[in-house]
Amino acid sequence: MTQDELKQAVARAALDYVAPRLDRDSVIGVGTGSTANFFIDYLAEVRNDFDGAVASSEATAERLKQHGIPVYDLNTVSELEFYVDGADETNDRLELIKGGGAALTREKIVAAVAKTFVCIADESKRVDILGAFPLPVEVIPMARSHVGRQIVKLGGDPVYREGVVTDNGNIIIDIHNMDLSRPVDAEERLNQIVGVVTNGLFARRPADVLLLGTADGVRTIK
Ligand code: 5RP
Repeated sequence: MTQDELKQAVARAALDYVAPRLDRDSVIGVGTGSTANFFIDYLAEVRNDFDGAVASSEATAERLKQHGIPVYDLNTVSELEFYVDGADETNDRLELIKGGGAALTREKIVAAVAKTFVCIADESKRVDILGAFPLPVEVIPMARSHVGRQIVKLGGDPVYREGVVTDNGNIIIDIHNMDLSRPVDAEERLNQIVGVVTNGLFARRPADVLLLGTADGVRTIK
């Protein structure tokens, strides 16, 4: 199977996982990226069975609306049963690196509100130790150099992601070669740097369920 076919398989599995648990009042959190896009396309099949969605990016909001799925401001929603999103890396504890698509801050906010975070990923994303994928950090633009220097002190190599402005008007620094063997610790240290909005480690709040696309089918890991 190609990587896209694996992504489609986990997106379909996510729909099968959440759809029976939705009712006409349910609002669902939806992530960003190519795997999440497949999920959105499947979600459209059941759009009359739930109320609407909260999007983790402008791109996701646009795609949901194109399918006729109402998109709500998170502040108007009291409860999110599910958040469904992809990842750039996952370990066996369902700790993640996210933010390859620069949507990490809104993704982390929506994930924080959701009762159940369902991560959907093809098997190329599974690693023993996080960090081969450069860790994205969203940064207030005027703090770029300061944050870069602090990242170097923590042992990472910061690389400014040229030409990218987040939906929040900020920039992205990708951290290469940092020791992420203790992900919760690394997440907290990076968030303490003044000027960092958030970082793409989802370790303090990992996924609850991972639907992993493999050549032998979709594995459910909790
Ligand atoms: C966007 C993300 C995505 O979930 C992550 O980059 C995975 O993307 P894809 O499903 O296209 O492989 O965190 O900020």
